[in-house]
Amino acid sequence: MFDLHMPEPATGLSPEDVVLTGDRPTGPLHLGHLAGSLAARVAGQDICPHTVLVADLQALTDHAHDVDRVGAAVAEVMVDYAAVGLDPAKVRFCLQSDVPELAEITVLLLNLVSLERILRNPTVKAEVGQKGDRARNAGFAVYPASQAADILGFAATAVPVGRDQAPMLELASHLADQLAIRGCRLPVPRAVFPEGGSGRLPGFDSRKASKTLNNAIALGASDADIAAAVRRMVSDPSRRSSSDPGDPEKPVAFAYLRAFDPDRTGLADLEAAYRRGGVGDGDVKARAERVIRDLLGPIRERRAAAAGDRAALRDVLREGTASARDTAQQALDEIRACFGLSRRSA
Ligand code: TRP
Repeated sequence: MFDLHMPEPATGLSPEDVVLTGDRPTGPLHLGHLAGSLAARVAGQDICPHTVLVADLQALTDHAHDVDRVGAAVAEVMVDYAAVGLDPAKVRFCLQSDVPELAEITVLLLNLVSLERILRNPTVKAEVGQKGDRARNAGFAVYPASQAADILGFAATAVPVGRDQAPMLELASHLADQLAIRGCRLPVPRAVFPEGGSGRLPGFDSRKASKTLNNAIALGASDADIAAAVRRMVSDPSRRSSSDPGDPEKPVAFAYLRAFDPDRTGLADLEAAYRRGGVGDGDVKARAERVIRDLLGPIRERRAAAAGDRAALRDVLREGTASARDTAQQALDEIRACFGLSRRSA
């Protein structure tokens, strides 16, 4: 049941789909994750099988200098999942580093893509620009292949992700095609993007919302954190006075309202009034603050309950991972066969 205080996203899924999604555990999840993929998972878990991957190996590709942070974030991300309403009875949770089959699939897939193609990935390039030295190792450069291995390893047909992940899905479907030529029967996966707008929630400084840039609102944010973040949301600097006509695409507060305001008519009215002139940015921010508080209040409560029983979440992750290993082993057998590796020394 979808009971987040925000518009229910269209999932683009059918009951025949098999979904794999995941997150890098490098810190608490934030509103960008909620808008970009978590809400779609909460809606989708009632439609078809979901596996959610806690991608700690991928997290290491730019956090090898801070492995403690990744270790701690694994438990934290599980708490975030429970807090938004992902239900362990419906969703299989999996810890990437405990499924070595995925690493073997990665090594095999690397033989099916040219170095140029893998280094051309625009998302990876942007991330290297943003993260600097810690993203300059070879593991980071080829993480799209590891992500493709995740997707193929779970025989996923659909991957709900933010738009920044489009190049990853292009590579995964390219690799699935390459395997199919070699007789592999794994499905060719498709990306499922969030609907509406750019699909990407900006940080309060209007850059991409990210933990690294420290411009995102964490799911566990307190009311005081929310107020401070909303205060920092940038508006349109060229607009002189609240009586001037304005462009609702410009203030960051409107982007948050478009993502989360459950009252769509009220929001449309406010946008129209803003366009005509006479609506102050303070009013828009006040509404954004209220909407975010209403959204995060219940999440914070469920967060506290989940954080009180971490042992239960550890069990959920262990059991999910064991089941996921079986699935990944089957995919690995199929992929090994494409390379003539079935039982070579048996
Ligand atoms: N790249 C994703 C992120 O940055 C995490 C991820 C790892 C993932 N493996 C995946 C997402 C497979 C979807 C499918 O959050």
